Amino acid sequence: MKEIRLGMIGQGIIAQSHLDEYAKMAGVKVVAVCDILKDKLEASAKKHGVEHIYEDYRELLKRDDIDAVDVCLHNNLHAPISCEVMLAGKDCYCEKPMAGSYKDAKAMYDLAKELGRKLHIQLAFLYTPDTRAARKLIDAGKLGRIYHVRSKGYRRRGRPFVDGYAEKEFNSMHMAGGGALYDMGVYHISQLLYLLGNPRPLRVSGRTYQEIPMDEKRKKESGFDVDELGVGFARFADGLTMDVIESWAIHAPPFGGSVIAGSLGGVCLDPFGYYFSDADMTLSATADISADEYRNHQLNPEMAYHDSSQKHWVAALRGQVPLLNTAEIALNTMFLSEGIFLSGKLEREVTADEIEAMSVSTSLKTQDTPFGTLTYKPWPFK
Ligand SMILES: NC(=O)c1ccc[n+]([C@@H]2O[C@H](COP(=O)([O-])OP(=O)(O)OC[C@H]3O[C@@H](n4cnc5c(N)ncnc54)[C@H](O)[C@@H]3O)[C@@H](O)[C@H]2O)c1
Repeated sequence: MKEIRLGMIGQGIIAQSHLDEYAKMAGVKVVAVCDILKDKLEASAKKHGVEHIYEDYRELLKRDDIDAVDVCLHNNLHAPISCEVMLAGKDCYCEKPMAGSYKDAKAMYDLAKELGRKLHIQLAFLYTPDTRAARKLIDAGKLGRIYHVRSKGYRRRGRPFVDGYAEKEFNSMHMAGGGALYDMGVYHISQLLYLLGNPRPLRVSGRTYQEIPMDEKRKKESGFDVDELGVGFARFADGLTMDVIESWAIHAPPFGGSVIAGSLGGVCLDPFGYYFSDADMTLSATADISADEYRNHQLNPEMAYHDSSQKHWVAALRGQVPLLNTAEIALNTMFLSEGIFLSGKLEREVTADEIEAMSVSTSLKTQDTPFGTLTYKPWPFK
């Protein structure tokens, strides 16, 4: 089996779980890791037994013994650093959301196409058993004509940092580009776009909110200026529509799972349910998904290539499976989300042409680090 040799940039919270996952995979070696914070970098490398460490990612990118680089950085660093990864001749796996704006995500997507590099975005919900079950029903024609989907994500009070979990960078437009809608909405919206064949919306409306008080000390420390709630409505071709509600914090009961509504049947995701009519009865079904998953994995071991985003990435690097078009799905997810932000700003529905024309780069242009200021190239990147 070909050994896959990886570099990683960013050694924070999510990088730790990536490293744990790579450690479980046969024939995968993390050769080098990077973080601007030396203590964090050294501790992470020691914990995971990584030999080479770098404070400046550009030094890591000079290595010629790495197949691909895993980018575990704050959103507004995804585009500039992922692009540098690909320009350095390496395939790139980048955390979600794809970037801090559609324009930056598009620059990543275009560069990957131009260079013929693999670009994979972490969209964990594409690999869930519920997604596979919904896919089976859709492919078998059991839902008929799908006309409406509902993207839902609920936290009662789970804003990063100010409510406890994670670092303060999630809460600043400067580092993240957006809040709940980008951070968690990306999972739910991308899951539905994937199941629908990745359509792009024609028109979008919506609004984002920050209304609920929070811990004042942490608010000040993080400069909280992102959304804690995003709601939206998108129109696609052929009468298909999607409504979105994504909350980090809301005074409301749980929303339940996302929904796909078709003329012959409907599906709820997480918890999984199948809703249809037969013999003049209104029927609601559950599935023994874990038993189906076990049986299918036994009969078709290649299913393991779709068990998680990281497993899929490694299998694709080995050439065992074609890479899912996660960059394109993540790009359309950014497009729809940015439509909601733009509509909220303009207080009206916006067209696809307007989203395309009015999106601006939010990528960091410079970044102060303990070893000096890093300067990122402006778009276009050539
Ligand atoms: N935390 C989670 O549970 C989680 C889950 C899924 C996805 N993500 C995504 O992962 C990304 C990172 O989130 P996180 O929670 O790991 O953040 P984090 O703050 O814990 O880690 C980010 C790390 O990047 C380092 N860094 C910053 N600039 C750098 C640079 N120029 N070069 C090298 N290192 C640099 C920071 O020092 C920090 O250690 C975000 O895009 C987030 O949306 C996070």
